[in-house]
Amino acid sequence: MSTLYGMEIYYKNEFLQFTGSFKERGARNTLLLLPPESKQAGVISASLGNHSQGISYHGSLLNIPVTVVMPSVAPIMKIQKCRSFGANVVVHGLNMKEAKYRAMELAKEKGITYVNGYDHPHIIAGQGTVGLEIVEQVPDVDAVLVPVGGGGLLAGIAVAIKHLKPNVLIYGVETFKCASMLEAMNRNEPVGIDIRSTLADGLAVATVGYNAFFTAKPVTDKIITVKEEWLARAILRLVEQQKFVVEGAGAVGVAAIMAGLVPELANKKVVCVLTGGNIDTTLLGRVLDRGLAAENRYVKFKVTISDRPGGLSELCRHIASIGVSIKDILQERAWMFGDIFSVEVKVVCETRGADHVEQLREIICSNYKEYFFTEFNEEKKKAAAAAALIAANSTEASASKR
Ligand SMILES: Cc1ncc(COP(=O)(O)O)c(C=O)c1O
Repeated sequence: MSTLYGMEIYYKNEFLQFTGSFKERGARNTLLLLPPESKQAGVISASLGNHSQGISYHGSLLNIPVTVVMPSVAPIMKIQKCRSFGANVVVHGLNMKEAKYRAMELAKEKGITYVNGYDHPHIIAGQGTVGLEIVEQVPDVDAVLVPVGGGGLLAGIAVAIKHLKPNVLIYGVETFKCASMLEAMNRNEPVGIDIRSTLADGLAVATVGYNAFFTAKPVTDKIITVKEEWLARAILRLVEQQKFVVEGAGAVGVAAIMAGLVPELANKKVVCVLTGGNIDTTLLGRVLDRGLAAENRYVKFKVTISDRPGGLSELCRHIASIGVSIKDILQERAWMFGDIFSVEVKVVCETRGADHVEQLREIICSNYKEYFFTEFNEEKKKAAAAAALIAANSTEASASKR
């Protein structure tokens, strides 16, 4: 990855924590700092899943009763895990906002402590230990890319690192579908935004925390937003190249590098915090498919061929002759207007990438008159050009070093 993207990339592997995310750090710190009577009564929290798992697990280790409220969009795997740690799980509301209000109501009703999973000062302090470890492990780090949901992790890491090494750049990264920190930075205060469905479910927080925002703002250099298609590609890249399973929320930093959004970090030491690995297996399969399609390793086209015996086998021979394999094939006869002895064939193929797709296109276009390839749109073309530029810069940089 470092060679490919022209920067020295390090990963902070928080997805390897016992419950699969960094959230354990803040959760344990907060539970340990509770006054004795609150420890006995227990705590309540709301979260999309990772914080719930962290606080449920450490509550069970420390014998502190935990209730978590999770919205119905929380992944099933995360809900089940909290139950398996012995927490009382309440599934309520369509989003984090609704779950959070319910948790606050229940806290009042039951007289237990409400813990905000990204905004409680002890949560933020606990997350800051990621920053302390980064400085210990990569002392000459130049920049750190931190995923942002409610902003607690960014605030904690930024304060810890800037205190020790003021020149390290701290970038917050969020998904384009929920850019609540960017909006807060622009307006100079947290504001509610509409959230759209995202692969980075852990980052889908409509309003960033007040403590998190005002702590992070003076020590954050930049907020970057990444598009969803880059998340799928980043997850795929991490699986293929590193053998890491990282969820969408955890992969935004790598996605930002791949999308060419941080060209100023070329030749620098960059740490990506891979914050979590809790992705449903079925979702992972779908994400990998999307990543392969976005990388041109799956290609879809339709072509009109002869419906006489041998027509289809001839098409297959052309495709096989350049080492492309067919994943799916479907013949369409009824909704056709041309020659009755022709058939439209829809084909999905596996290729080695963009050059291989070009070869396929050439062979189809030199043998058939009617064909249509699902095209790259303008956005994808720009992103591919940016990635190619970074790769070219990296080759130049390593050549000049040699
Ligand atoms: C995997 C993962 N990464 C990053 C974040 C963002 O953390 P924060 O809400 O503190 O910004 C979350 C939040 O739940 C998460 O689950």
